[in-house]
Amino acid sequence: MLHWNVIKTKTPEEAGKLAADQFEAVLRAKPACVIGLATGSTPLPLYRELIAREQRGELDFSRVRSANLDEYKGLAPDHPQSYRRFMQENLFDHISIRPENTIVPDGLAEDVDAMCRAYERRIEDWGGVDIQLLGIGHDGHIGFNEPCDDFPAWTHEVALTEMTRRANQRFFASLDEVPTAAFTMGIGTVMAAKKIVMMVTGKDKAEILYKAFCGPVTPKVPASILQFHPDVTLICDEAAATLLPGK
Ligand code: F6R
Repeated sequence: MLHWNVIKTKTPEEAGKLAADQFEAVLRAKPACVIGLATGSTPLPLYRELIAREQRGELDFSRVRSANLDEYKGLAPDHPQSYRRFMQENLFDHISIRPENTIVPDGLAEDVDAMCRAYERRIEDWGGVDIQLLGIGHDGHIGFNEPCDDFPAWTHEVALTEMTRRANQRFFASLDEVPTAAFTMGIGTVMAAKKIVMMVTGKDKAEILYKAFCGPVTPKVPASILQFHPDVTLICDEAAATLLPGK
């Protein structure tokens, strides 16, 4: 059923501004809200816009808590390609969010189960995620929930597919350096968010966006589960939207 709120934009920059509007509305209503964040190329225009809005005095992140979707297994927080470092450089270092109020799965966790359980508990103690940002992988992954036989519920370790490793190779010196595993919030964690904003830009995402949006709900296309979420806003540029109904 096509009940997602779909906003089509001309450019990724415009998509960033419209996604920022969604975050701003939640922050204004609840200054100590919990935001779920993603890494990758797609959210960068959003993060630039959020930084600019706080610098102009329009937003205040000082009471906000944030939980990231995922982290590479084996990468230290200060590794140049770690998602913690990505978040510091692209958002956290430029806004007033308190460091202790930002969580990213620990890529170096030795007791993986304990780390994953503690991650879930922290989000629960905060009262759950008020607004969750998502991108989508070419294979339909959200977070690092790759296509598989069922929908993994909670934060867990996952083996990365060849497709995902190749897609992320652009950030590393070679494919061999791309980690083969990661820690990710589960589908249950994502679905528990009160509101979801998915950003999708670029024509290389048009086909998978169509499958996720209009195809059957199946763990072979993990993002398709979002068809069952009651509050999803899809913000996509024209290139990504070419196969969607209404074009
Ligand atoms: C990263 C994440 C991933 C990305 C996806 C798309 O935290 O959750 O699911 O959203 O791999 O990445 P980009 O935006 O680089 O195309």
